Amino acid sequence: MTARVIDGRAEAALLRAQIAERVAVLQARPGLAVVLVGDDPASAVYVRNKDRAAKAAGIAVETLRLPANTSQAALLELIGRLNADPAIDAILVQLPLPAHIERRAVIEAINPAKDVDGFHPANLGRLVDGMPTLVPCTPLGVMKLLATAGMPVAGTRALVIGRSPIVGKPMAALLTNADATVTLAHSRTRDLPEECRRAQIVIAAAGRAEMVRGDWIGRGATVIDVGINRLEDGRLVGDVAFSECLSHAGAITPVPGGVGPMTIACLLENTVLAATHRRGRE
Ligand code: GUN
Repeated sequence: MTARVIDGRAEAALLRAQIAERVAVLQARPGLAVVLVGDDPASAVYVRNKDRAAKAAGIAVETLRLPANTSQAALLELIGRLNADPAIDAILVQLPLPAHIERRAVIEAINPAKDVDGFHPANLGRLVDGMPTLVPCTPLGVMKLLATAGMPVAGTRALVIGRSPIVGKPMAALLTNADATVTLAHSRTRDLPEECRRAQIVIAAAGRAEMVRGDWIGRGATVIDVGINRLEDGRLVGDVAFSECLSHAGAITPVPGGVGPMTIACLLENTVLAATHRRGRE
């Protein structure tokens, strides 16, 4: 058996084309502010990709690059200005932030209606309660990839590896809302390989290069790899040992070209959603 490789780039291109069509018929272009503090090289690449994708979709994106020594007070003041700016529909503060800035304080300062990352406690609370809301982009992209893989979620056993507030926890909530039986595994989980073998859906979001091995994967399982890890030899790999898992899984996402492009497409979708909601209320 060789797994079907899920083409995240192709799915993201389809979604981005649909978003560009929706943007084209809006009266005013949606406004997205992307804030990057410091010079983390990976974050700089992600932000550049978000900026380019937003421009290509017709979104009015403004990327604000602040020095690493920016104070928390200055960042909160900037967010206050963006919250009050009627041309800005959507705000994203790239994570991680420098150590002297408290992530929670920054996220809580963002107007939940403009929180296109879906990280504000109000949005995460709505998500857990199954209410319509802005949903974190990576887990949202994973749900779309599961749908395109033809993987029914309801009634399946799903394992999420990693309990970060960005991916693991909202991912577990989305899968639960979609009627999967969800296990949320983490660094203290006992016998992770056995937990993995029982799952029909495996979402790897632990941030550890190639930790999920081929013999952890149950026959025909769908494997979604959220990891992006740079090896010492320069290669980019996921949290899944891709070539080993190919002969066990039914469907699998590659790295790169799997979840990453969908995360960006979902950011654009959330931006359009935030813009249309806000304008509907104005
Ligand atoms: N850093 C890694 N992933 C993300 C994300 O989805 N949003 C933000 N803001 N920062 C991130």
